[in-house]
Amino acid sequence: MAAVGEKIDYVFKVVLIGDSAVGKSQILARFARDEFSLDSKATIGVEFQTRTLVIQHKSVKAQIWDTAGQERYRAVTSAYYRGAVGALLVYDITKRQSFDHIPRWLEELRSHADKNIVIMLVGNKSDLEDQRAVSTEDASEFAQKENLFFLETSALEARNVETAFQTVLTEIF
Ligand code: GTP
Ligand code: MG
Repeated sequence: MAAVGEKIDYVFKVVLIGDSAVGKSQILARFARDEFSLDSKATIGVEFQTRTLVIQHKSVKAQIWDTAGQERYRAVTSAYYRGAVGALLVYDITKRQSFDHIPRWLEELRSHADKNIVIMLVGNKSDLEDQRAVSTEDASEFAQKENLFFLETSALEARNVETAFQTVLTEIF
């Protein structure tokens, strides 16, 4: 957190997208407040949270937007993507379908967002290794082909969440 009156050098908007229940809201809770909840409710509409961090000696306010993966709860798409300079494209490593839908999310992102947007493919729930349904190799190959950054995270265990945001924010710089 920046202290009251502290100068902010940059405000960067980053959006979270992906199927319902992949863990977008918990990734955000982990990053913004270092919290996690197992009985997280589906997001309705749009929410955002901010966290100020220092990157290359500049104070950067990350404004992270989170929306519903469920179509019926989603807000107006163009407004969600407007001004976004980074995106986390999230699937659940235990749900093959959530990975199979990634090309669709990518298409929506590329048709609505700025063409220079920095995109990180995120395979969440890496703590559930015994239920894995998407191999790291498959995802990594897809990311390479599409020119995306790629990481597997666990919001539950706080694994790679910080790195995912740090990488995107540093790359935006
Ligand atoms: P929508 O808002 O409907 O789009 O879903 P969401 O992507 O925001 O999912 P949410 O963050 O609400 O998480 C869905 C469920 O997955 C909740 O029960 C979370 O506790 C759980 N979950 C999220 N991240 C992890 C994780 O890293 N590991 C495990 N084991 N469970 C997780
Ligand atoms: Mg949510």
